[in-house]
Amino acid sequence: MQQLSLLTVLDSYKSGSQSNPEAYAQLGESCDIPVEAWEQRRSIGRAGKAHSPLKRKVRWYQQTLRRLGLLEPVAGRRGHWRATDEGRRTIEQREKDLEPAAPGVVQLGFSTELGMALWADCRDAFSRIEEFVHCVLTSPPYPLAHQRDYGGPAREEYVDWLCACLEPLVRRLAPGASVFLSISNDIFEDGSPARSLYRERLVIALHERLGLSKMDEWIWHNPSKAPGPIAWASKRRVQVNTSWEPIYWFTNDPQACFTDNRRVLRPHTASHTRFVSRGGAASAGVFGDGANQRRVGSFAALTAGAIPRNVLTVPHNCPSQAALRKWAKDEGIPLHSATMPLELAEHIVRFAMEPGMLLADPFGGWLTSAVAAERNGCRWIVTERMRAFLYAAQWRMLSAVDAA
Ligand SMILES: C[S@@+](CC[C@H](N)C(=O)[O-])C[C@H]1O[C@@H](n2cnc3c(N)ncnc32)[C@H](O)[C@@H]1O
Repeated sequence: MQQLSLLTVLDSYKSGSQSNPEAYAQLGESCDIPVEAWEQRRSIGRAGKAHSPLKRKVRWYQQTLRRLGLLEPVAGRRGHWRATDEGRRTIEQREKDLEPAAPGVVQLGFSTELGMALWADCRDAFSRIEEFVHCVLTSPPYPLAHQRDYGGPAREEYVDWLCACLEPLVRRLAPGASVFLSISNDIFEDGSPARSLYRERLVIALHERLGLSKMDEWIWHNPSKAPGPIAWASKRRVQVNTSWEPIYWFTNDPQACFTDNRRVLRPHTASHTRFVSRGGAASAGVFGDGANQRRVGSFAALTAGAIPRNVLTVPHNCPSQAALRKWAKDEGIPLHSATMPLELAEHIVRFAMEPGMLLADPFGGWLTSAVAAERNGCRWIVTERMRAFLYAAQWRMLSAVDAA
């Protein structure tokens, strides 16, 4: 959970005026504040009336930002606020601190023996590479109604935009290479509890326009995901809280696909090991109307490990990200608000590639995919549009290289 501050409250008005409940929801998402925290009440003041300390804090920040000339109430709309011209300039300046790459310019951020991080818009960089790419592992900006600091395309352009970003990479894929895309399931039609069908449109576009075949849609179960969608689960109560995100897996040639589950086998459970050591199945059986049969002694051989399932439970709070967040905070550089856990990226890298193969990530962020590749002896090439993220990622990468 990130601290509420004057600036996080101001940032929540970057896309226009908002009612207080909308601002609370926006802050809940950007600062990872659990929804229950907003409803906790305490007796405050002489009258001893119960209030939510968190909401009072936001209102105090609103009044302070008003005195600073950065926020103003919207006339005739009680509880609605918006940024003043000066407030908008402050928000824009903060976004500039991330320093986007100039259009058309590709610069080397940093490199290791195995890879390079380019400070560039991915659309400017990947059309120039000549090598075969063996795996694309990426998490693009989501089609959010309120974009994060690093921005993203308009919602209605999302599918075209993402296809255009991926197209040069898809052309460089080795036969049988994989593309893993981590995107959001929690995108809703405007003002509606119904989910957007953008995922379905994207899958069809990637198949029809770029010739990719869908191998699977893995479930990334994230037990530490903040509760939401707040508007529909906590307020209207017509939805339930979400706890997973899809990870799409595509390939350009299913028959030549060179992923290998033997590289990501899981340790057997203690009960399975006991079952095997007792000689496997003790009785015969027929299941599923004859589709599955078990003989006495079936499963008696101890295999190298269990084949993983396509539901992966990985909390997003990972030690590698936590160390980087602390470092970036101490350095006073912008934090990244949407990173992938390293454990998840490493699982995909090992499944998809052998050491020496090349990974590409057009939306590098804090370079989780590149760190995963580096730690597993794979080469990597990554683009990231914001210089501040590359700066932090360099520290992370060097720590990973030093630790190896
Ligand atoms: C969801 S984040 C990726 C986080 C990353 N997977 C990690 O774990 O650190 C998306 C990133 O894409 C970057 N980005 C957005 N548009 C871009 C573009 N056109 N070219 C390169 N990077 C872009 C954003 O600045 C942001 O850091």
